[in-house]
Amino acid sequence: GRVAVLMGGTSAEREVSLDSGRNVLEALRSRGIDAFAVDGVPALVDAIRAGSVDRVFNILHGNKGGGEDGVLQGLCEALGVPYTGSNVLGSALTMDKIRTKQVWLSEGLPTPRYVRLAPGADVHAAARELGLPVFIKPSSEGSSVGVSRVLAESDLDAAVEHAAHYPGELLMEQLIDGEELTVPMLLIGGKHVALPSIRIVPKGEWYDYHAKYISDDTQYLCPGLEGAEEDTIRHLAREAFVSAGCHGWGRVDFMRDRSTGALYLLEVNTAPGMTSHSLVPKAARQVGIEFDELCWRVLESSLA
Ligand code: DAL
Ligand code: MG
Repeated sequence: GRVAVLMGGTSAEREVSLDSGRNVLEALRSRGIDAFAVDGVPALVDAIRAGSVDRVFNILHGNKGGGEDGVLQGLCEALGVPYTGSNVLGSALTMDKIRTKQVWLSEGLPTPRYVRLAPGADVHAAARELGLPVFIKPSSEGSSVGVSRVLAESDLDAAVEHAAHYPGELLMEQLIDGEELTVPMLLIGGKHVALPSIRIVPKGEWYDYHAKYISDDTQYLCPGLEGAEEDTIRHLAREAFVSAGCHGWGRVDFMRDRSTGALYLLEVNTAPGMTSHSLVPKAARQVGIEFDELCWRVLESSLA
């Protein structure tokens, strides 16, 4: 059947998605799959109506016109077209970092302390409650878009103003001093398997948009941890992924406290980046799954 590789869209992560999408398209074609590119959800609807879509490979990142917030998933279900990745619930939940944390906390899973910033909230009082330093984040963005690291109280208001340019609520999160790690998840043989972790060593202070996609100075270590610690992070990733109702593939992001070694869950990405700088392909390669096989496995895990 024909596979629509859904990419682009209108979210803040449009350019990242186009980059990911081109790579996925090429990989599927190299495996002999009849795949074609579709830019954004309205164009997908047209293609489905024209009868040319048997399955959707969703590599549309982000919310509000992106493909990670459950809207696309609901549309595909309503129109009866199978799609890759998580269903409506898992997508909508994990696009929202605040509600994802609430689910994890109720499951006893570790995540940094946070305050939900409703419009007009007293951000200075919230910062005193959590203690600086903190991150200010839009609750429903990706790729660190709109995120600021706040070390001094005098920088709080500017950080909140910056994050407020993006749709949805804001989150103030305790900054864990340590290393960022990530664990890709992939459905293999009917089971959700945690691939090796990756430890991210950015050249600057933290793994921001520039360090993610532009800089070639960011270092990646895979596996990111050793022995029992690596087992622990993979176990936590699986618990986090499954408890949030996710399916097929994704990537679970962590912080590891430099002094205690404690691991904290940050978020799940249900349509993670597949750019040449991206992390899921690196971890897959570590276990002998090359990029085209990875794309094929993701396609195989589609929900009908
Ligand atoms: N949100 C970006 C695409 C990622 O998680 O890889
Ligand atoms: Mg993300």
